[in-house]
Amino acid sequence: MAELFLKHISTRRTCYSIERKSPISDARILEIAQLVIKHSPSSFNCQSTRFVVLLRDEHHKFWEIAKECFKATMSDDEYMPYEKKLTERQAGYGTILLFEDLDVIRDYQHRFPRFKWHLLDFSEHNNAIQAFNLWTAFHLEGLGCNLQHVNPIVDLRVASEWDLSPHWSLKAQLVFGSPIGEPPHEKTFTPTESRIVVYASDSKIPIE
Ligand SMILES: Cc1cc2nc3c(=O)[nH]c(=O)nc-3n(C[C@H](O)[C@H](O)[C@H](O)COP(=O)(O)O)c2cc1C
Repeated sequence: MAELFLKHISTRRTCYSIERKSPISDARILEIAQLVIKHSPSSFNCQSTRFVVLLRDEHHKFWEIAKECFKATMSDDEYMPYEKKLTERQAGYGTILLFEDLDVIRDYQHRFPRFKWHLLDFSEHNNAIQAFNLWTAFHLEGLGCNLQHVNPIVDLRVASEWDLSPHWSLKAQLVFGSPIGEPPHEKTFTPTESRIVVYASDSKIPIE
């Protein structure tokens, strides 16, 4: 039963070679974003994640802002290797900014004081689950995607450019576009037997 899902999660990869095209319509991109944000689980079902979908010129603008912010806070030598990477991201079709709404988290901290500090961790988990689901769904639709973290350096500029609540905390950016060029590099794996420990008193389960 799980084979299809397991196949899908094993074929999703980081793809940096992308261009400003999309194999699917903007309407489909938004439909996927809506389904993912609706159905991904969150702590206490608090639904703290927010997406800002930037396509084409708006996507380009975001990466221009990232370049300006990096350039303004780094020496020329430090910035040089970053500029190439940021230009690569900018070459894509779109970026979804993933935020956490801190007003929601604060509300749940008041309602569930025993979980006050857990809720901050849970908020990160909520966001990561959304990112993974979005990434996998886009991959299945033929988009090449990569996950970036140019926050917090860009935060103020982003809030002001797209008129966002200052209580939305930027956590990640999922960049996407039509894949071009080389397939993703070969991935190495730490043996799973060193990463999973099983205790089952009545049976021996081999881990491969
Ligand atoms: C929580 C998390 C943070 C990541 N941050 C970045 C990042 O800032 N920049 C980047 O290029 N890749 C980032 N990645 C991508 C990982 O490097 C990549 O998923 C990993 O090397 C495995 O490769 P794969 O995605 O092809 O399976 C991140 C992935 C995760 C799960």
